[in-house]
Amino acid sequence: MKEELVLYEEGAHKCIMFSFDDEEHEDRFLSVNQFLIIQKDTAMLIDPGSQAVYDEMYDAVERLIGIDKLKFIFFSHQDPDVAGSIAEWSIATSAKIILPGIWVRFMSHYGVMDMNRLTALPDHGAKIPFGENYFQFIPAHFLHSPGNFSLYDSRSKILFSGDIGAAVLPPQDVYKEVTDFEAHQPFLEGFHRRYMAGNTFTRKWVEKVRAHDVDMIVPQHGAVFKDEHTDAFLTWFEELKCGGDLIDEIY
Ligand SMILES: [Fe+2]
Ligand SMILES: [Fe+2]
Repeated sequence: MKEELVLYEEGAHKCIMFSFDDEEHEDRFLSVNQFLIIQKDTAMLIDPGSQAVYDEMYDAVERLIGIDKLKFIFFSHQDPDVAGSIAEWSIATSAKIILPGIWVRFMSHYGVMDMNRLTALPDHGAKIPFGENYFQFIPAHFLHSPGNFSLYDSRSKILFSGDIGAAVLPPQDVYKEVTDFEAHQPFLEGFHRRYMAGNTFTRKWVEKVRAHDVDMIVPQHGAVFKDEHTDAFLTWFEELKCGGDLIDEIY
């Protein structure tokens, strides 16, 4: 089932979150969020997801702005829940497809035939203009993927954080916005401790993020962080021990 939530709307700039859940297969399906940023007659699609959600996402983009207006599609990393439909999008649109450089050569295994369609992000990231504003691709390497970026939208001040901040919420208690960080923490804990590579990386990412004026952090799974919860999350993540810090728990 798909839900749409407008995260930001002012003038001609709009950010929309799509959320897919599968109540019938809740123990096997990982719920996902996708995002569309529209400014006037141009748009960026973020982490569009797998083939399981492709048709509905295509219809949503077509309805909200028109497929031909899609100028950029950004994949934060290579995972199937992020990039599983990259071949379909590369065929169906003429958008510039942006992804971490180290994953480009792997995309033929998702069925991408024309590698010229792909734009490789260098490790340090990039800044690109978008209408009157800009997007900043912030390195998020090893959080969790070795080649991984978060995307900052300078207009909405939203940070699209990929798997960082992801929560695995109980199916009977799914909410879209964090209202109590302490109560939310248990749903972050297991995912981040196991999927994120270590405190060296979480600390570096938080330092980079804090250099921007961030109002909202929106992850690819679970609920969005706004207002004081944005800072609460950054403080928690900065201190988190995870991955290699806990090596004896998994070896
Ligand atoms: Fe992932
Ligand atoms: Fe994910």
